[in-house]
Amino acid sequence: MLKLAPSILSADFVNLERDIRALAPAGADYVHVDVMDGIFVPNITIGIPVTAAIKRVSALPLDVHLMIDRPIRYVEAFCRAGADLLTLHVEADTPENTLAALRQIRDLGVHPAVSVKPKTPAEAVLPFLDLCDMILVMTVEPGFGGQIFMADMMPKLRTIREWIDRRNPGCELEVDGGVNVETAKLCVEAGANVLVAGSAWFKAEDPAAFAAAIKR
Ligand code: DX5
Ligand code: ZN
Repeated sequence: MLKLAPSILSADFVNLERDIRALAPAGADYVHVDVMDGIFVPNITIGIPVTAAIKRVSALPLDVHLMIDRPIRYVEAFCRAGADLLTLHVEADTPENTLAALRQIRDLGVHPAVSVKPKTPAEAVLPFLDLCDMILVMTVEPGFGGQIFMADMMPKLRTIREWIDRRNPGCELEVDGGVNVETAKLCVEAGANVLVAGSAWFKAEDPAAFAAAIKR
């Protein structure tokens, strides 16, 4: 089943509770929480206390996307703050530390995931595939909402889908960046089953109609 994960980076932060409570009734499956540290990416967004606050008002699982340097330092804190899925970037630390962080996430009862930036080859996920419950393929450079979808990431998505089907069929495959009704079709054709949508969701006049159009 196709899942939708609205990125609250495009929500109205003054009315965050209202915007989060509106997600499930409109057909969202996860709440995508973009955590940025100003080092791994050139932007600073949401941290641990806000993630914990979101958890208190969310009817949906939290899909927490860490765009931070050496995430192993903070995985325990984000698990305890209420992440249901916790995604690290493979570019953010050594493979040894990434493996250790993924195991720590699993031990804390949270679903571990890794993400790759556009310039990172598909092969970079291979050492982690068996340990992950989700792989996230970025279709924009991480850092900001509202960027243009990179259709040239579709071969990477297809390759990872083949590996998932062969080695870890329960693993989800998520796409993040520039997803709208049109680009969603390309992602699904290439094998994605979880779509993040920030600006397209929150700018939609009728998010329920947007969700229905994507899932049709
Ligand atoms: C980008 C973030 C995305 C972003 C998506 O660094 O990881 O989740 O908010 O926003 P849109 O859908 O507007 O590209
Ligand atoms: Zn994201």
